[in-house]
Amino acid sequence: SRIYRNGALGVPMATPRSPDGLERAARRRMSARAFAYVAGSAGAERTARANIEAFDRWQIVPRMLRDVGERDTSVEIFGRRHPTPFLLSPIGVQELAHPEADVATARAAAATGVPMVFSSQASRPMEECAAVMGDAARWFQLYWSSDDDVVVSFLERAEACGCEALVVTLDTHVLGWRPRDLDRAFLPFAHGMGIAQYTSDPAFMRLAAARADKTDPNAPRPRPTLAAIRTLLAMSRRHPGRFSDNLRSPMPRAAVETFLDVFSRSTLTWDDLGFLREHTTLPIVLKGIQDPHDAVRAVDAGVDGIVVSNHGGRQVDGAIGSLTVLPEIVARVGGALPVFFDSGVRTGADAFKALALGATAIGIGRPYMYGLALDGAAGVEAVVDHFAAELDLTMALAGASRVGDIDAGFLRHR
Ligand code: FNR
Repeated sequence: SRIYRNGALGVPMATPRSPDGLERAARRRMSARAFAYVAGSAGAERTARANIEAFDRWQIVPRMLRDVGERDTSVEIFGRRHPTPFLLSPIGVQELAHPEADVATARAAAATGVPMVFSSQASRPMEECAAVMGDAARWFQLYWSSDDDVVVSFLERAEACGCEALVVTLDTHVLGWRPRDLDRAFLPFAHGMGIAQYTSDPAFMRLAAARADKTDPNAPRPRPTLAAIRTLLAMSRRHPGRFSDNLRSPMPRAAVETFLDVFSRSTLTWDDLGFLREHTTLPIVLKGIQDPHDAVRAVDAGVDGIVVSNHGGRQVDGAIGSLTVLPEIVARVGGALPVFFDSGVRTGADAFKALALGATAIGIGRPYMYGLALDGAAGVEAVVDHFAAELDLTMALAGASRVGDIDAGFLRHR
């Protein structure tokens, strides 16, 4: 009702409520290549469309006269109660949307009580985000580096930052074929963007320093970008004496090259999960599960949760819509572990459908990046508020008082 009152009072709409309006407004605000990176998906973007279309095929059947005067949108996850069943899915390179990047998102997460999943590819180190969050919930998303020391160091830092779960993203050990970025020749990491988690990491910096020592300081180098200059300045602050403040230092380039070398590992198998279990006490959540057999393997491997996700259609073009596989996965493993969901969620009513199909909590992806682009922390907060408000209204109007009451009985498949 606060949102309706504000609307009626004509509070300017910095962050549009309609999903298309939100995307359009963000597009006007962002640079062409930044918008392309965020909005773009793999290939002909068929999977991105399949994610949206999957929601159109499920329709809600509202029920009447069910005393929905008191509603409770809270959910319990890993022993902690959260006010709403939403997560901020891990999103890298947030500096493309706003200079405050991940720190703005962290403020919004703390203000709304929605867990933020820190990305491995963040623009700001997890410690800076944790510092503005009080005791609000945060998780860490791992891209499994090919370097064991970097993996272990990330896990230690995540625990020290108060992260309550480890989300291991499995679907991006190589980047998908993304025509919008390829046509612009834009790879943010090559410009030194989205590598702050690495350049703030002692294990990673040992690798980068070893490479820099081998680099010929007189070799011709590309003009340093603003992001590279920022990285260099941050590094020379953290390692005084080790790196000169001189912009002719080979360090930024060594850091970028080292990142490109170690950011992932394509040789992983199910047997490797034991390594993570040995090195962290956090609940382990596997992100990127689409095959019901993989969901069963995840249970057998003893992990603590899965995220049914196809990375917003950014990896395998032609892959099945994420919501399309959710019911089968829930039928196989629901009850054995929490099944989180993302990819294609654009409204609170979409969240209602995914909850009805058995998801434990719902990841918001691109929409919060658009909020971030439009209004920084306030924009992310607005987007989360809008999702929560629409979910609450949908529950009221469909006849569900608690999240646990939202089941498949509310849906019909078209
Ligand atoms: C992502 N996603 C992602 N996932 C992840 O595990 N680590 C990451 O660093 C990123 N980075 C990232 C950047 C951008 C710009 C986007 C759009 C997405 C995937 C993300 O967590 C989530 O799975 C999707 O965003 C869900 O799809 P929708 O709802 O955004 O379409």
